[in-house]
Amino acid sequence: MVSVSSPDAPEPTPRRRIRKRRIASLGILVAALGTIGTLYAGLAPSGSAASNSDPSIARGRQLFLQGCASCHGLNAQGGVRAPSLIGVGAAAVDFRVGTGRMPLQQHGPEAPRKRPVYNNAQIQLLAGYVASLGAGPAIPTNLNYQSADVAFGGSLFRTNCAQCHNFAGSGGALTYGKYAPSLSEATPKQIYEAMITGPENMPVFGDKEITPAQKLAIISYIRTIKTEPNPGGAGLGRVGPVTETAVAWLVGIGALVIVTMWIGSRA
Ligand code: HEC
Ligand code: HEC
Repeated sequence: MVSVSSPDAPEPTPRRRIRKRRIASLGILVAALGTIGTLYAGLAPSGSAASNSDPSIARGRQLFLQGCASCHGLNAQGGVRAPSLIGVGAAAVDFRVGTGRMPLQQHGPEAPRKRPVYNNAQIQLLAGYVASLGAGPAIPTNLNYQSADVAFGGSLFRTNCAQCHNFAGSGGALTYGKYAPSLSEATPKQIYEAMITGPENMPVFGDKEITPAQKLAIISYIRTIKTEPNPGGAGLGRVGPVTETAVAWLVGIGALVIVTMWIGSRA
């Protein structure tokens, strides 16, 4: 073999070679341990330390184990009966439990609004426990919707919400037995929570689509259609006198046509 290295460079002795190899394997070991440590820090549930120390989260977990875990799993991880609640946030729990939709009593196309099973303090505990499992939308506070622009809210409502909830917020049918409910019972907080959590078929309206100020305007509009006195008569979605005339016209003329045909057939 023709050697290119200079003849006076010393050949590495066997002992030196062994030491080099030891240093190399030590380096690999340290790198591997470092990677494992970083991966663990990234993947380990970060809320576990807090849930052990905070007593209100432990109480929330207790309520959860009694009332929710049978469907949502012992650690809210979800299962065949219900989805995971990790990362849904406190607002989703406050909305679902505060409107009585949860705990679910019967599986069906819609989880309807019911009388709430839990009181407000218990709902806060449940929400705190679920929020400790992963970050999600928080329960909104200080909703100063009274000073918001009602007319602006009305136009936002007509472009974003009326296609499902109807112009008067009285609700409407969706596909496969689902429906968008009437908004007459929802509190301002629940309206805000519905927008930021998007229950079931309802889309989530993030702060980029509808800013917090616009959400308050929508709430103020929904509150006015709730409190505006109903002029009476059969509710036709309260779209105004035009529909009422149209219905009177169609039904009236229809009846006349049928009577005329009946007379004609006898003659
Ligand atoms: C009988 C089974 C059942 C029980 C008990 C139950 N849930 Fe649910 N839950 C469901 C199902 C099914 C869904 C999904 C359907 C839906 O969104 O309505 C759901 C959805 C939810 C959601 C919405 C999740 C999301 O992705 O936004 C929340 C929050 C929730 N449940 C909280 C609770 C809490 C808190 C309790 C206990 C007080 C509870 N649930 C008890 C079956 C159940
Ligand atoms: C694609 C149809 C759809 C659109 C658009 C929609 N929603 Fe909904 N909404 C629903 C459905 C379906 C539910 C029932 C969810 C459930 O039962 O969990 C609902 C529930 C609600 C509730 C809860 C009512 C109650 O009494 O519990 C409120 C409040 C609400 N929506 C407000 C809004 C607002 C405000 C907008 C517009 C920014 C909007 N929704 C847009 C379908 C829709």
